[in-house]
Amino acid sequence: MLRVPELVHHGLYWRSAVTANDVARVRSLVASTGFFNAAEVEVATGLIADRLTKGLRSGYHFILAERGETLVGYACYGPIHGTRNSFELFWIAVAPEEQGRGLGAEVYARAEAAMVEAGATRIYADTSSSERCAGTRDFYQRMGFREGARLPDFYAPGDGKIVFVKAAAAESRLLR
Ligand SMILES: CC(C)(COP(=O)(O)OP(=O)(O)OC[C@H]1O[C@@H](n2cnc3c(N)ncnc32)[C@H](O)[C@@H]1OP(=O)(O)O)[C@@H](O)C(=O)NCCC(=O)NCCS
Repeated sequence: MLRVPELVHHGLYWRSAVTANDVARVRSLVASTGFFNAAEVEVATGLIADRLTKGLRSGYHFILAERGETLVGYACYGPIHGTRNSFELFWIAVAPEEQGRGLGAEVYARAEAAMVEAGATRIYADTSSSERCAGTRDFYQRMGFREGARLPDFYAPGDGKIVFVKAAAAESRLLR
């Protein structure tokens, strides 16, 4: 089972357990970034709804950071079915008013630690090659990812998919 410690750190309360209230809170956080379209917001919301319905069998795991009553950052990750030790970072978002202060890095670090604890040796994250996603690509690179594959025109003509990959745990030296 994937578990991370629940604790308070720098005024933030961290948890991995999800509750029914989190569906609306994740929807609100993801929408507040202004980064995702309506369909993408529904996909993000669907992952947490799936987790609530199916439990850990859903394969979706979460790191959630709250300040007071407000969800200010979260990540969703899980094992990639059919692989031995490959995991995917499905989603990560930080509230606009909290961005640029290291919270995204901390959310990611906690998600990575949980993935490694669960046996991850490769972590994957997809993003678009569009100009809109330049900041996201910079963020992944700062988190130690490198470009593993590029699929031109994947999302739309002129908008390709970039698959970022990061070696984790004992294999980390092999990829660098
Ligand atoms: C991407 C995101 C999670 C980063 O969160 P954040 O709290 O702003 O990130 P941090 O302050 O922890 O930054 C960590 C590092 O990434 C870099 N970084 C983060 N966002 C960046 C951006 N838009 N452009 C360039 N660099 C960026 C920071 O400069 C920092 O680098 P450093 O280690 O050299 O200081 C946040 O901007 C966000 O929610 N964006 C919208 C949603 C998104 O793109 N999600 C990813 C796709 S699912």
